[in-house]
Amino acid sequence: MSDDVKKGLLGIVVDETTVSQVMPDINSLTYRGYAVQDLCEKCNFEEVAYLVLNGELPNKKQLKNFVKEERLNRKLSKEILSDIRKMPRKAHPMDVVRTAVSLMALEDKETKDNSPKANMRKAIRIFSKTPIAIAAFFRARKGKKIISPKRNLSFSENFFYMCFGKIPTKEMVKAFDVSLILYAEHSFNVSTFTARTITSSLSDIHGAITGAIASLKGPLHGGANEEVMHMMNKIKKPEKAFKWINKALQNKDVIMGFGHRVYKKGDSRVPTMEKYFKKVASIKKDKKFMKIYDIVKNVMIEKKNIHPNVDYPTGPTYHLMGFDTDFFTPIFVISRITGWSAHIMEQHSANKLIRPLSKYSGASHRKVMLLNQR
Ligand code: SDX
Repeated sequence: MSDDVKKGLLGIVVDETTVSQVMPDINSLTYRGYAVQDLCEKCNFEEVAYLVLNGELPNKKQLKNFVKEERLNRKLSKEILSDIRKMPRKAHPMDVVRTAVSLMALEDKETKDNSPKANMRKAIRIFSKTPIAIAAFFRARKGKKIISPKRNLSFSENFFYMCFGKIPTKEMVKAFDVSLILYAEHSFNVSTFTARTITSSLSDIHGAITGAIASLKGPLHGGANEEVMHMMNKIKKPEKAFKWINKALQNKDVIMGFGHRVYKKGDSRVPTMEKYFKKVASIKKDKKFMKIYDIVKNVMIEKKNIHPNVDYPTGPTYHLMGFDTDFFTPIFVISRITGWSAHIMEQHSANKLIRPLSKYSGASHRKVMLLNQR
């Protein structure tokens, strides 16, 4: 391949952003200048969602208004709920949530309006409604009654309530909240770039988020948190972990939840998520997943110098919280909607059609033969 082709846009800077950066001096992911680990300890997810969408942390009044708007929009139409009930039980929940956001576009009265104010209103509507769609399918596919959202619960509490009909302990809710904070935004990753590319043709936010969900589903991106759990289930016992991971490396397998295009010395979100994974494991009196986690991680770092990414600790954390494995990436979606929306609005504010070039390597010029001559 020619040197001037940058496969996977490796190392190419395609635009500017004010939403997030991995700051080299502190070696950390920052949202609007704030280190994620700092946000995790001092803020709840709603405050961080506001920050990602608006550029500043909210004061009390701003947070109150934002939370009120998010809670008022916690409703899905009868039609969408009925469609979700009819969806095949074996369908992947990522396909269901992608379809649900697409359906929301058909009902939203401002779908075509790409003005900044309408886009912010639509972003909040999608943010409020998507967890309802995910929780509805979580229950419907098990033949359980769908639980309506409650407006007196926090974003995370409400998601637990809609899935399980109850809210776990404060520590558990905090661990979930932290995972949402860490998943909210990560600059020009593949799903965000997809959303920006769709936006660049002046298409709408529902379409851009629908496309982003499709992109997030892949196992090289958000789908990795599900694959991590499949791997841990295959390993089965801590005693088998060392042999399993060494064999996988011998076979040159790709180990899910490890490696990253941007981070080469470790994902700055991992230490925080690892801390909360270990808290959840201790609440649930789990030792098995914690041990498998450490063994696989240590071998990967020692033998390959490849570090875990954020999907490695979130996988077993969500499992211990009681979520089905194929709902892990949809949980990523409910958080990343904030980052995608911020980027979609940023793209609209200084748009240039995204249209790269390609180097042609096909057949040289030839004449068309008529059908009876071929
Ligand atoms: C997310 O971009 C973002 O910001 C994404 C994200 C976000 O918040 O939006 O952080 C979320 O998507 C996290 C990543 C989740 N994906 C996985 O966990 C899947 C497993 N990881 C990989 O396949 C890989 O590391 C990628 C896809 C994440 C990154 O791929 P790159 O940058 O294209 O690097 P590469 O695949 O070319 O790997 C470089 C080398 C190769 O070895 P050599 O050919 O040079 O000898 O590192 C090896 C790879 O084989 N390698 C791995 C590995 N990751 C890299 N080897 C085994 N297992 C791995 N996981």
